[in-house]
Amino acid sequence: MNDVVITGTGLYTPEHAIDNEALVATFNAFVDRHNERFSAEIAAGEREALAYSSSEFIEKASGIKSRYVLDAEGILDPARMRPNLPQRSDDEPSIQCEMAVHAAGQALKNAGVEAEGIELVIVACSNLERAYPAVAVEIQQALGTAGYGFDMNVACSSATFAIETAANAIASGSVKRALVVSPEICSAHLNFTDRDSHFIFGDACTAVVLERSDLAGASQRFEVLGTRLVTRFSNAIRNNAGFLNRVTDSDPLGVDKLFVQQGRQVFKEVCPMVASLITSHLASLELEGSDVKRLWLHQANRHMNDLIARRVLGFDPNESQAPIILDRYANTSSAGSIIAFHLHRDDFKTGDTGLICSFGAGYSAGSVVLRCQ
Ligand code: COA
Repeated sequence: MNDVVITGTGLYTPEHAIDNEALVATFNAFVDRHNERFSAEIAAGEREALAYSSSEFIEKASGIKSRYVLDAEGILDPARMRPNLPQRSDDEPSIQCEMAVHAAGQALKNAGVEAEGIELVIVACSNLERAYPAVAVEIQQALGTAGYGFDMNVACSSATFAIETAANAIASGSVKRALVVSPEICSAHLNFTDRDSHFIFGDACTAVVLERSDLAGASQRFEVLGTRLVTRFSNAIRNNAGFLNRVTDSDPLGVDKLFVQQGRQVFKEVCPMVASLITSHLASLELEGSDVKRLWLHQANRHMNDLIARRVLGFDPNESQAPIILDRYANTSSAGSIIAFHLHRDDFKTGDTGLICSFGAGYSAGSVVLRCQ
């Protein structure tokens, strides 16, 4: 089996940012319009009045202060409350391809790899903008990579699941180099009129270059010491959008075709699952929490990360031990833990060990243990 290293990472951050105050102002304007429109029914007790959102609640409950999105104007319009991303013709690059090309260009550059040296492209994300042809194959053409590409979706865990797939393909000798990209347009599956979740997500795209160790030229490389994945079925995070929507005669624009979650339940059920995955994965590599310099955790909720890190490390983590990027990016689904890795890896020295861990819908969780060479 070949040794596998991560040699490059890249990040595409959309230009538009929306802070909690702006998001809440729009939500509350929507609430006023709604309650005004249904005032008679609300007064008659036939309908509940909607309640205001609050930026203090959002920051306290989640740690999120702001998020990047592809289109702020549509989201901040109380009469629309969803991004406005006009349909492109079949001859134009898809939006996810465009995001991926930005992030991949950066990852290839810092790996010191030419696009034609990549033999596998995996697009790994929560939502794909079409059924087929695979976005990965379009990216293959846009970048000029060799070999093949495919799309996969394991919700927030997509990137770590794809890193395992790519690492296995390199280890077994079927490809020499692979690119994993996670173009997440979370703003398009978010119900901005739902008080419980309107603040949760942001958009971003990450890219990771993996190579056979003996071919890698980058000065900083992270050997993949091991990967471990786990899934357990749950409806607590669910999105019913799918190709059967047309034929089931359900409303294709219904709110169940967007992200819906039982946040409290997710918090309670996912934290122990993730802490146990990380601990058992480290043990299988004869490592303990104290051997790990940094946890690059999925970025959904600051308190979840603090709790998981405390269980794994045995103490309250500082910013360096479990960096937080969700304060400015919010939850970017599968891109989150990779953004944390991308922005917080430069100080790693030879021999330092770190761990990427994602978790989310499915439930699903993926752990990738890395050692800097
Ligand atoms: N503004 C003001 N108050 C709000 C609010 C908002 N936007 N949304 C909810 N509240 C209120 C609720 O009505 C509730 O009020 P009550 O106590 O009077 O009933 C209170 O705040 C607590 O609501 P709750 O939903 O229990 O909040 P929480 O502390 O669980 O935080 C999340 C909500 C979503 C931040 C949190 O549950 C979470 O992050 N869970 C995990 C999510 C996750 O990782 N998902 C994975 C996605 S991939």
